[in-house]
Amino acid sequence: MFIKSADRAVQAGYDGVQIHAAHGFFLSRFISPAYNHRNDKYGRNPELFLIEIICKIRENHPDLHITMKINSSDFSFSGLHETESLHICLECVKHGLDSIEISGNGTSVSGIKAGVNEAYFEKFALTLAENTDIPVILVGGHRSITHMNQVLNDGNIEYLSLSRPLIREPDLIQRWQNGEESPAKCVSCNMCYRTPAHQCIFNLRK
Ligand SMILES: Cc1cc2nc3c(=O)[nH]c(=O)nc-3n(C[C@H](O)[C@H](O)[C@H](O)COP(=O)(O)O)c2cc1C
Repeated sequence: MFIKSADRAVQAGYDGVQIHAAHGFFLSRFISPAYNHRNDKYGRNPELFLIEIICKIRENHPDLHITMKINSSDFSFSGLHETESLHICLECVKHGLDSIEISGNGTSVSGIKAGVNEAYFEKFALTLAENTDIPVILVGGHRSITHMNQVLNDGNIEYLSLSRPLIREPDLIQRWQNGEESPAKCVSCNMCYRTPAHQCIFNLRK
């Protein structure tokens, strides 16, 4: 199914696909010791399944950009830990990933404040970026230009991705580009998960 969906993406004209191995979706559970209790090779080396998907997509579409979003950790006692995740990331890199986006379970952390607790998966992403040449993308809790620049300057992380701030302010990047550099107005309340079409409650009140 993953391979066929990449075929459909190419047919539809996309330049790249993202393999989703984060946030409790199927592949993130496959690589999590909390869920994967298999006794075969896919239990001993859970990254094998990701590698097979990457290699088959690459075989079918040599020029397609293949990225992967992956949990740095499940943040649970018996789940995936950072050491295991790093190993899985590096094995996938060896097999032809073009870039990798770092996230984690409990992805949309609430209560993020600019300058206080931004970029909550940064430490892991920095370690990964030190150990690979492909672009590392970091998601989660970017709220201010100051901190985003700091993340980019701290090490080898090349790209940042944002979600909730853009739900609150779809023109945020343009605003920053235009020199109005105050932090994102998103208060990380996560109500956007519950509203129709994932709108920001502050925008619904307007
Ligand atoms: C309403 C909503 C829907 C989301 N849906 C997805 C999704 O389908 N796939 C995904 O990888 N992440 C999804 N996310 C998580 C975001 O991509 C992102 O990883 C997370 O919110 C942390 O980044 P942020 O602090 O910039 O919001 C969603 C987030 C929100 C708020």
